[in-house]
Amino acid sequence: MDATQITLHPDYTIAPVDPRIFGGFLEHLGRAVYQGVYQPDSIHADEDGFRTDVLNALRTMHMTAMRYPGGNFASGYHWQDGIGLRASRPTLHELAWQSIEPNQFGTDEYLKLARQMDWTPMLTVNLGTGTPEEARNWLEYCNSPIGTKYANLRAANGSSDPYGVKLWCLGNEMDGPWQLGHVPADQYAIRAQQAAKLMKDTDPTIELVASGSCTLTLPTYMEWDRTVLEYIGDLADYVSLHRYVGNPNGDTVDYLAVTNSIDQQIEEMDAACRYVQARRRSKQRHYLCFDEWNVWYRATSPAHTDGRGQFAPHLLEEEYNLEDALVVAGFLNSFIRHADVVKIANLAQIVNVIAPIHTRGDELLLHTIYYPFVLYANRRDGMALRPAVKGPGYMSRSYGYVNTLDVSAILGDGVLHVFLINRSQTDAAPVKIDLAGRSLKNLESAEIVTGPNAQACNTFERPGHICSQPFTSVRISEGQALAQLPPLSVTALTFGLG
Ligand code: AHR
Repeated sequence: MDATQITLHPDYTIAPVDPRIFGGFLEHLGRAVYQGVYQPDSIHADEDGFRTDVLNALRTMHMTAMRYPGGNFASGYHWQDGIGLRASRPTLHELAWQSIEPNQFGTDEYLKLARQMDWTPMLTVNLGTGTPEEARNWLEYCNSPIGTKYANLRAANGSSDPYGVKLWCLGNEMDGPWQLGHVPADQYAIRAQQAAKLMKDTDPTIELVASGSCTLTLPTYMEWDRTVLEYIGDLADYVSLHRYVGNPNGDTVDYLAVTNSIDQQIEEMDAACRYVQARRRSKQRHYLCFDEWNVWYRATSPAHTDGRGQFAPHLLEEEYNLEDALVVAGFLNSFIRHADVVKIANLAQIVNVIAPIHTRGDELLLHTIYYPFVLYANRRDGMALRPAVKGPGYMSRSYGYVNTLDVSAILGDGVLHVFLINRSQTDAAPVKIDLAGRSLKNLESAEIVTGPNAQACNTFERPGHICSQPFTSVRISEGQALAQLPPLSVTALTFGLG
């Protein structure tokens, strides 16, 4: 394969990378909460019932914003069911996933866990079957000093100090007809505006995410966002977008080009935000909160999505392979390349449900997608640079032309991080990296995730088949770096700068 030349320039900046793009998502769905992060009868449980093996694996991912409690679940959730004495909490028929919800894990448990894990809490209020006032009351429970009804309730439940939850989502996927309480855009806009007003009057320091277009396929795509953002105006700080991708036709070449369409989705949503800002003659720009993203296409049939009245059913238990790991890295490259507009992003989800971590009884497995996330999350501080990429590429069936290498870069304090995905299934990719005006002095660290073929995966019987390894095929010559990237690989390089 011909060499790819990557040229970076310290002045060709995009924006500082917001650490919150390395967020996660924990929903009351299947075995994400129960048998995921919380399982008092596990040999791994700590005194709060949290699974320490799962938490240790999550710690390595250095996740930031952690969205909770849903997802579709949020649209039927009444937060007061999940607080107070555990024995008094109701067991309910949960409608989004047709499961049994015993409410043994709720607001106080989640916020305790978030504090322990150093996650930025991010709560989704119920604007499906809930009211704006119920959302406001939850905010008072979480953030107000003691002295008023819901703050006193929090204190009675053991937390006299406010939790200080800054990030709140105004409902979930409200444009989707499957959503409990789904309504047309203009009606959602009214609900969201009412909730936002009550919430910001209660605590003006919070940031709010309006529920935006959750898929490209609904007829309301973009028109929903225009309607909602025009009405809610400056009360919202962000608009959400979601994306799940997959390879249902077994076409790896095409699948690995999906990054083009992720770039496009971000740019379209940003265009809607700018349009609304211009129409409103507002100084405030709505930024993007990509609060659900991942690969999800196998575990989608009713057998995987209908809990059939069970507690902690096996739902959405996707198993991931090498090509999925490359696509997950592609999402992260796209977020870094759009650091000026994407301020928050949440990998959906964290354990058992479309997740990098899987439990079976007391065992734990790390899926392929775990590893690229770790490579990036550990190199996230700094300024995103605009890479110029000159090299081979191909025309994909569905997503247009892509370079064989998908690239992003972050300029940190005395270091340069470069992330490279080689989409070729057969050929190693020679690459030359040049940071104009600065010389690359030494290679501080380099890791790679690769494997024998696109379908290679990890199983409980063969864990660690696909994992990250140190990468050594890098040479620095006259301030530039030269490397040979194996086929089907994602590589993270960190250079010290001269
Ligand atoms: O993450 C799984 C589900 O996908 C979420 O509950 C919902 O918001 C989306 O459709």
